[in-house]
Amino acid sequence: TFVVTDNCILCKHTDCVEVCPVDCFYEGPNFLVIDPDECIDCALCEPECPANAIFSEDEVPKGQEVYIKLNEELAQTWPNITEMKDSMPDAEKWDGVENKLQYLEK
Ligand code: SF4
Ligand code: F3S
Repeated sequence: TFVVTDNCILCKHTDCVEVCPVDCFYEGPNFLVIDPDECIDCALCEPECPANAIFSEDEVPKGQEVYIKLNEELAQTWPNITEMKDSMPDAEKWDGVENKLQYLEK
């Protein structure tokens, strides 16, 4: 499965949802997640993310392993998103800021 990680938080560009053949992205207030039970590992979304926030489960950067579980959990409660929308207003400012988990809104 593929996993959305830290740098998506407060950026949420949503380019990723447009290419997913199985529509398995779910949307929270400032972050997106992938449902691991639905993801077919096609890898199409990974290069689409302007924030480089999407990784294969076995390539999640060190220290960001917590996102594997978070994607799984939050996909159960957040609504499905299948169409691209505007990035978050301060996306550019937040791109590359480390440890954004503290800002994650559920
Ligand atoms: Fe969707 Fe493919 Fe990305 Fe999985 S790897 S979330 S199936 S686009
Ligand atoms: Fe997030 Fe990147 Fe998608 S910033 S919403 S994972 S395009």
